[in-house]
Amino acid sequence: MSGGPMGTGPVDAGHPPGGPVTGVILAGGNGTRLAPLTDRTSKQLLPIGGEPLVARVTAQLARAGVADVLVVIDERHAGGFLDALRDGRRFGLRSLAYVWQPPDGRGMPSAIAQAERHLRTDKFLVACGDVLIEPSLAPAVADFAAQRGGARILATRTPDTAGYTPLLTSGARVTGIPDKDPARHGPGLMDLGCYLYHRDVFDEIRALRPSARGETEIWDLNRVYARRGRLACTEVTGWWTDVGSSLDTYRRADARYGLDRVR
Ligand code: TTP
Repeated sequence: MSGGPMGTGPVDAGHPPGGPVTGVILAGGNGTRLAPLTDRTSKQLLPIGGEPLVARVTAQLARAGVADVLVVIDERHAGGFLDALRDGRRFGLRSLAYVWQPPDGRGMPSAIAQAERHLRTDKFLVACGDVLIEPSLAPAVADFAAQRGGARILATRTPDTAGYTPLLTSGARVTGIPDKDPARHGPGLMDLGCYLYHRDVFDEIRALRPSARGETEIWDLNRVYARRGRLACTEVTGWWTDVGSSLDTYRRADARYGLDRVR
Protein backbone atom coordinates (compact mmCIF):
# COMPACT_ATOMS: atom_id res chain seq x y z
CA MET A 1 0.00 0.00 0.00
CA SER A 2 1.24 3.44 -0.73
CA GLY A 3 0.53 6.92 0.59
CA GLY A 4 -0.11 7.95 4.18
CA PRO A 5 -1.16 5.67 6.96
CA MET A 6 -4.71 5.41 5.66
CA GLY A 7 -3.85 4.63 2.05
CA THR A 8 -7.55 4.80 1.27
CA GLY A 9 -8.77 4.60 -2.27
CA PRO A 10 -10.40 1.98 -4.36
CA VAL A 11 -9.23 -1.62 -4.54
CA ASP A 12 -5.48 -2.10 -4.11
CA ALA A 13 -3.93 -2.33 -7.53
CA GLY A 14 -2.50 -5.46 -9.10
CA HIS A 15 -4.71 -8.15 -7.54
CA PRO A 16 -8.03 -9.64 -8.49
CA PRO A 17 -10.94 -8.46 -6.35
CA GLY A 18 -11.83 -10.69 -3.42
CA GLY A 19 -15.48 -10.98 -4.45
CA PRO A 20 -15.87 -14.66 -3.58
CA VAL A 21 -14.32 -14.11 -0.14
CA THR A 22 -16.62 -12.62 2.52
CA GLY A 23 -15.10 -10.55 5.31
CA VAL A 24 -15.91 -11.40 8.94
CA ILE A 25 -14.84 -8.79 11.48
CA LEU A 26 -14.65 -9.92 15.10
CA ALA A 27 -15.84 -6.97 17.14
CA GLY A 28 -16.99 -8.57 20.40
CA GLY A 29 -14.69 -9.38 23.30
CA ASN A 30 -14.14 -7.52 26.54
CA GLY A 31 -11.29 -5.14 25.81
CA THR A 32 -10.13 -5.38 29.42
CA ARG A 33 -6.57 -4.45 28.49
CA LEU A 34 -7.81 -1.03 27.36
CA ALA A 35 -9.66 -0.27 30.63
CA PRO A 36 -10.74 2.29 31.70
CA LEU A 37 -11.29 3.45 28.08
CA THR A 38 -13.48 0.40 27.51
CA ASP A 39 -15.57 0.77 30.67
CA ARG A 40 -18.40 2.40 28.68
CA THR A 41 -17.71 1.43 25.08
CA SER A 42 -16.25 -1.34 22.92
CA LYS A 43 -12.57 -1.10 22.05
CA GLN A 44 -13.46 -1.39 18.35
CA LEU A 45 -15.48 1.84 18.71
CA LEU A 46 -12.65 3.81 20.27
CA PRO A 47 -11.49 6.64 18.02
CA ILE A 48 -8.25 6.21 16.12
CA GLY A 49 -7.53 9.59 14.60
CA GLY A 50 -11.19 10.59 14.86
CA GLU A 51 -12.55 7.43 13.20
CA PRO A 52 -13.86 4.40 15.09
CA LEU A 53 -11.23 1.67 14.98
CA VAL A 54 -13.71 -0.75 13.38
CA ALA A 55 -14.26 1.72 10.51
CA ARG A 56 -10.56 1.55 9.68
CA VAL A 57 -10.62 -2.25 9.74
CA THR A 58 -13.70 -2.24 7.48
CA ALA A 59 -12.00 0.15 5.04
CA GLN A 60 -8.99 -2.15 4.90
CA LEU A 61 -11.16 -5.12 3.88
CA ALA A 62 -12.92 -3.03 1.24
CA ARG A 63 -9.55 -1.97 -0.20
CA ALA A 64 -8.59 -5.65 -0.52
CA GLY A 65 -11.61 -6.15 -2.77
CA VAL A 66 -13.88 -7.78 -0.19
CA ALA A 67 -17.45 -6.79 -1.15
CA ASP A 68 -19.54 -8.32 1.63
CA VAL A 69 -18.81 -8.03 5.34
CA LEU A 70 -20.31 -9.55 8.49
CA VAL A 71 -19.48 -7.81 11.76
CA VAL A 72 -19.74 -10.00 14.87
CA ILE A 73 -20.77 -7.94 17.89
CA ASP A 74 -22.18 -8.62 21.32
CA GLU A 75 -25.25 -6.91 22.71
CA ARG A 76 -23.35 -4.12 24.42
CA HIS A 77 -22.95 -0.97 22.35
CA ALA A 78 -24.68 -2.46 19.28
CA GLY A 79 -25.98 1.01 18.45
CA GLY A 80 -22.43 2.32 18.34
CA PHE A 81 -21.56 -0.17 15.59
CA LEU A 82 -24.62 0.81 13.57
CA ASP A 83 -23.62 4.42 13.88
CA ALA A 84 -19.97 3.73 12.90
CA LEU A 85 -20.59 1.45 9.91
CA ARG A 86 -24.27 1.77 8.90
CA ASP A 87 -24.82 -0.30 5.74
CA GLY A 88 -21.16 -0.21 4.68
CA ARG A 89 -21.80 1.91 1.59
CA ARG A 90 -19.39 4.65 2.55
CA PHE A 91 -16.60 2.04 2.36
CA GLY A 92 -17.76 0.91 -1.07
CA LEU A 93 -19.09 -2.41 0.24
CA ARG A 94 -21.94 -4.25 -1.48
CA SER A 95 -23.31 -5.43 1.86
CA LEU A 96 -22.59 -5.17 5.55
CA ALA A 97 -24.55 -7.10 8.17
CA TYR A 98 -24.33 -7.49 11.94
CA VAL A 99 -24.18 -10.86 13.66
CA TRP A 100 -24.74 -11.34 17.37
CA GLN A 101 -22.35 -13.30 19.59
CA PRO A 102 -24.21 -14.60 22.66
CA PRO A 103 -22.45 -14.05 25.99
CA ASP A 104 -22.30 -17.77 26.85
CA GLY A 105 -19.89 -18.57 24.00
CA ARG A 106 -16.65 -16.71 24.55
CA GLY A 107 -13.55 -16.90 22.39
CA MET A 108 -12.58 -15.99 18.85
CA PRO A 109 -13.59 -19.36 17.31
CA SER A 110 -17.00 -19.06 19.01
CA ALA A 111 -17.33 -15.59 17.49
CA ILE A 112 -16.40 -16.97 14.05
CA ALA A 113 -19.01 -19.73 14.44
CA GLN A 114 -21.76 -17.09 14.54
CA ALA A 115 -21.08 -16.32 10.86
CA GLU A 116 -22.08 -19.80 9.67
CA ARG A 117 -25.79 -19.13 9.18
CA HIS A 118 -25.18 -15.85 7.37
CA LEU A 119 -22.32 -16.66 4.99
CA ARG A 120 -23.17 -16.89 1.32
CA THR A 121 -19.67 -17.83 0.15
CA ASP A 122 -17.58 -20.93 0.77
CA LYS A 123 -14.51 -18.86 1.63
CA PHE A 124 -14.12 -16.05 4.11
CA LEU A 125 -11.54 -13.83 5.73
CA VAL A 126 -11.60 -13.25 9.50
CA ALA A 127 -10.16 -9.95 10.72
CA CYS A 128 -9.74 -8.94 14.35
CA GLY A 129 -11.67 -5.72 14.84
CA ASP A 130 -8.83 -4.30 16.91
CA VAL A 131 -5.84 -4.97 14.65
CA LEU A 132 -4.70 -2.41 12.08
CA ILE A 133 -2.66 -3.81 9.20
CA GLU A 134 -1.46 -1.23 6.67
CA PRO A 135 0.03 -3.56 4.04
CA SER A 136 -2.60 -4.69 1.56
CA LEU A 137 -4.61 -7.81 2.36
CA ALA A 138 -5.30 -8.28 -1.36
CA PRO A 139 -2.43 -10.75 -2.00
CA ALA A 140 -3.64 -13.01 0.84
CA VAL A 141 -7.21 -12.85 -0.45
CA ALA A 142 -6.03 -13.69 -3.98
CA ASP A 143 -3.84 -16.55 -2.68
CA PHE A 144 -6.79 -17.97 -0.80
CA ALA A 145 -9.22 -17.52 -3.68
CA ALA A 146 -6.90 -19.87 -5.61
CA GLN A 147 -6.29 -22.26 -2.67
CA ARG A 148 -8.06 -25.62 -2.59
CA GLY A 149 -8.93 -26.68 0.94
CA GLY A 150 -7.15 -25.88 4.18
CA ALA A 151 -6.78 -22.48 5.80
CA ARG A 152 -4.43 -19.52 5.55
CA ILE A 153 -2.94 -17.20 8.14
CA LEU A 154 -1.34 -13.79 7.79
CA ALA A 155 2.09 -13.50 9.34
CA THR A 156 4.71 -10.86 9.79
CA ARG A 157 8.34 -10.95 10.81
CA THR A 158 9.15 -9.34 14.14
CA PRO A 159 12.44 -8.78 15.95
CA ASP A 160 10.87 -10.19 19.13
CA THR A 161 7.99 -12.69 19.23
CA ALA A 162 7.74 -12.54 23.06
CA GLY A 163 4.07 -12.15 24.01
CA TYR A 164 2.83 -12.90 20.48
CA THR A 165 1.74 -16.17 18.89
CA PRO A 166 4.81 -17.44 17.00
CA LEU A 167 4.54 -19.43 13.80
CA LEU A 168 6.96 -22.12 12.65
CA THR A 169 7.01 -22.49 8.89
CA SER A 170 8.46 -24.51 6.09
CA GLY A 171 8.19 -22.43 2.93
CA ALA A 172 4.64 -21.11 2.79
CA ARG A 173 3.29 -23.83 5.11
CA VAL A 174 2.84 -23.43 8.87
CA THR A 175 4.29 -26.46 10.63
CA GLY A 176 3.74 -25.46 14.26
CA ILE A 177 2.15 -22.87 16.52
CA PRO A 178 3.96 -22.78 19.88
CA ASP A 179 2.25 -21.24 22.93
CA LYS A 180 2.64 -17.51 23.54
CA ASP A 181 5.54 -16.97 25.89
CA PRO A 182 6.33 -13.48 27.23
CA ALA A 183 9.72 -14.75 28.40
CA ARG A 184 10.92 -16.26 25.13
CA HIS A 185 12.65 -13.47 23.22
CA GLY A 186 14.00 -13.53 19.71
CA PRO A 187 13.08 -12.82 16.09
CA GLY A 188 10.56 -14.81 14.12
CA LEU A 189 7.25 -14.94 12.33
CA MET A 190 4.09 -14.15 14.28
CA ASP A 191 0.34 -14.43 13.85
CA LEU A 192 -1.11 -11.08 12.73
CA GLY A 193 -4.73 -11.75 13.69
CA CYS A 194 -6.12 -12.29 10.19
CA TYR A 195 -7.23 -15.70 8.91
CA LEU A 196 -8.83 -17.25 5.84
CA TYR A 197 -11.06 -20.30 6.11
CA HIS A 198 -13.41 -22.47 4.12
CA ARG A 199 -16.81 -23.39 5.45
CA ASP A 200 -15.39 -26.67 6.82
CA VAL A 201 -13.95 -24.62 9.69
CA PHE A 202 -17.36 -24.66 11.40
CA ASP A 203 -17.08 -28.42 11.95
CA GLU A 204 -13.59 -27.91 13.39
CA ILE A 205 -14.91 -25.21 15.74
CA ARG A 206 -17.66 -27.51 16.99
CA ALA A 207 -14.98 -30.07 17.88
CA LEU A 208 -12.86 -27.58 19.89
CA ARG A 209 -12.71 -27.83 23.68
CA PRO A 210 -12.53 -24.67 25.83
CA SER A 211 -9.11 -23.81 27.24
CA ALA A 212 -8.28 -23.43 30.94
CA ARG A 213 -9.71 -19.90 30.83
CA GLY A 214 -13.04 -21.27 29.61
CA GLU A 215 -12.86 -19.95 26.02
CA THR A 216 -12.25 -21.57 22.67
CA GLU A 217 -8.87 -20.37 21.38
CA ILE A 218 -7.91 -19.30 17.87
CA TRP A 219 -4.48 -20.95 18.11
CA ASP A 220 -6.14 -24.30 18.95
CA LEU A 221 -8.28 -23.95 15.83
CA ASN A 222 -5.31 -23.08 13.61
CA ARG A 223 -3.26 -25.93 15.08
CA VAL A 224 -5.82 -28.39 13.73
CA TYR A 225 -4.93 -27.24 10.19
CA ALA A 226 -1.18 -26.97 10.92
CA ARG A 227 -1.07 -30.55 12.22
CA ARG A 228 -2.58 -31.77 8.97
CA GLY A 229 -0.16 -29.72 6.86
CA ARG A 230 -3.16 -27.64 5.67
CA LEU A 231 -2.30 -24.21 7.04
CA ALA A 232 -0.75 -21.88 4.46
CA CYS A 233 0.85 -18.59 5.34
CA THR A 234 0.99 -15.22 3.59
CA GLU A 235 3.75 -13.02 4.96
CA VAL A 236 3.16 -9.27 4.94
CA THR A 237 5.64 -6.49 5.43
CA GLY A 238 4.75 -3.06 6.74
CA TRP A 239 3.20 -1.26 9.67
CA TRP A 240 0.60 -3.01 11.82
CA THR A 241 -0.51 -2.80 15.42
CA ASP A 242 -2.66 -4.77 17.82
CA VAL A 243 -4.47 -1.71 19.15
CA GLY A 244 -6.17 -3.67 21.93
CA SER A 245 -3.01 -4.94 23.57
CA SER A 246 -2.30 -1.94 25.83
CA LEU A 247 -3.18 1.69 26.46
CA ASP A 248 0.21 2.54 25.02
CA THR A 249 -0.45 0.79 21.69
CA TYR A 250 -3.86 2.50 21.57
CA ARG A 251 -2.31 5.95 22.10
CA ARG A 252 0.40 5.36 19.51
CA ALA A 253 -2.10 4.22 16.88
CA ASP A 254 -4.31 7.24 17.57
CA ALA A 255 -1.33 9.57 17.19
CA ARG A 256 -0.21 7.90 13.93
CA TYR A 257 -3.51 8.53 12.18
CA GLY A 258 -3.93 12.14 13.25
CA LEU A 259 -7.19 13.35 11.78
CA ASP A 260 -6.92 11.29 8.60
CA ARG A 261 -10.51 10.24 7.76
CA VAL A 262 -11.62 7.04 6.11
CA ARG A 263 -12.94 7.95 2.68
P1 TTP B 1 -8.88 -10.28 22.16
O1 TTP B 1 -8.26 -8.93 22.08
O2 TTP B 1 -7.97 -11.43 22.31
O3 TTP B 1 -9.96 -10.40 23.33
P2 TTP B 1 -10.70 -9.28 24.20
O4 TTP B 1 -11.38 -8.29 23.30
O5 TTP B 1 -11.63 -9.99 25.13
O6 TTP B 1 -9.53 -8.48 24.93
P3 TTP B 1 -9.00 -8.46 26.43
O7 TTP B 1 -8.15 -9.66 26.58
O8 TTP B 1 -8.22 -7.18 26.52
O9 TTP B 1 -10.22 -8.45 27.34
O10 TTP B 1 -9.78 -10.53 20.86
C1 TTP B 1 -9.28 -10.36 19.55
C2 TTP B 1 -10.41 -9.86 18.66
O11 TTP B 1 -11.50 -10.78 18.64
C3 TTP B 1 -10.98 -8.55 19.14
O12 TTP B 1 -11.33 -7.73 18.03
C4 TTP B 1 -12.23 -8.94 19.90
C5 TTP B 1 -12.69 -10.17 19.15
N1 TTP B 1 -13.39 -11.13 20.01
C6 TTP B 1 -14.74 -11.41 19.75
O13 TTP B 1 -15.34 -10.86 18.82
N2 TTP B 1 -15.37 -12.30 20.58
C7 TTP B 1 -14.74 -12.92 21.62
O14 TTP B 1 -15.37 -13.72 22.34
C8 TTP B 1 -13.34 -12.60 21.86
C9 TTP B 1 -12.62 -13.23 23.01
C10 TTP B 1 -12.72 -11.71 21.03
